[in-house]
Amino acid sequence: MERIPVSGPSITAKEIAYVTDAVTTCWYEQANAYHDRFERTFASWIGRKHAVALPSCTSAIHLALLALGVGPGDEVIVPECTWIATAAPIAYVGATPVFADIDARTWCLSAETLAARITPRTKAVIPVDLYGNLPDLAAIQALAAKHGFAVIEDAAEAIGSQHQGRLTGTWGDVGVFSFHGSKTMTTYEGGMLVTDDDALWQRVLFLRDHGRTPGDRFFFNAEVAYKYKMSSMQAALGLAQIERIDELIARKREIFAWYRSGLAGITGLTLNPEAAGDLNSYWMVTALLSPDRGLRKERLMELMAAQAIDCRPFFHPLSALPAYAGTEAARRGAAGNPTAYALSPFGINLPSGLNLGEAQVERVCASLRRILASSA
Ligand SMILES: Cc1ncc(COP(=O)(O)O)c(C=O)c1O
Repeated sequence: MERIPVSGPSITAKEIAYVTDAVTTCWYEQANAYHDRFERTFASWIGRKHAVALPSCTSAIHLALLALGVGPGDEVIVPECTWIATAAPIAYVGATPVFADIDARTWCLSAETLAARITPRTKAVIPVDLYGNLPDLAAIQALAAKHGFAVIEDAAEAIGSQHQGRLTGTWGDVGVFSFHGSKTMTTYEGGMLVTDDDALWQRVLFLRDHGRTPGDRFFFNAEVAYKYKMSSMQAALGLAQIERIDELIARKREIFAWYRSGLAGITGLTLNPEAAGDLNSYWMVTALLSPDRGLRKERLMELMAAQAIDCRPFFHPLSALPAYAGTEAARRGAAGNPTAYALSPFGINLPSGLNLGEAQVERVCASLRRILASSA
């Protein structure tokens, strides 16, 4: 039986032509030609003043925290259920992560879950657009403005989603994206930081190039900083992908629509939500099972794997990970974030690669229906 992978990119002759051109021509004074085009095209598509191409979204979050002046003694609030990359850079800058509960409706932060964690030490919040879903970004932004802390919108998983008609990545002081190979658009590994703030943009450019002022020709470093630059081949791949972004998002939505009809009518199974007025770009089609079915995500993944179908588990609460064992953040998260602990054990991401066909989605749906029927 052909194995169905959990994700996969869409690569066409355009990507191959651009990468080939980069490796052929982009050396010495041409080294940044594709970066410039990629950053300008990305900024203009998303509608922000500045875009900075980086080696990963993790490095984008790290630079955003540094540029916002977050450091020791500061608290940064993140949702319990996300990839650890949202939270790990908080430790890189010596600040303290605070885990807030997710909202059962969106699986993301809400104004209420965020408000419960604000203290005088709160310096920033990083709402996450989980699997393409949307937190209450307007309400979160209003709360941050009221209390005077920054918003870094982690749109790693949600390029093309829209909340109240506004694209993800445009909500916070800073927005960040991932172009990891599993994402809707990819550069193999890569990320983008977007902002409208000129000073913050300048600081990020300086920090990503070992503390050199942009344009410095004398290799004169003003501070000890970081080497976070993307390669020309990746920038070329990224340019081809952003030029096709509307097609990639439409494809994700088509895949989700196949699942929605293939899984219709199953009781106790919920797919990614899309509130009225929002648009979900459905990076990963995600099925949440009701706990009373008694079927945990690890077991369900095994049963699907036995049918040659690869799935992923819904993110574990960060406070439950060995990485945070023994910390105050973990203690408070485990004690105070019941929704994350209630939902997380019963969710899986279904295959959502851009190269999936309708027949493969039908096979996934049929397998899931069989498994659920026999475990009922
Ligand atoms: C929500 C979230 N934030 C951040 C990241 C980090 O992205 P990268 O792997 O490009 O560093 C990811 C990547 O998977 C993610 O899903």
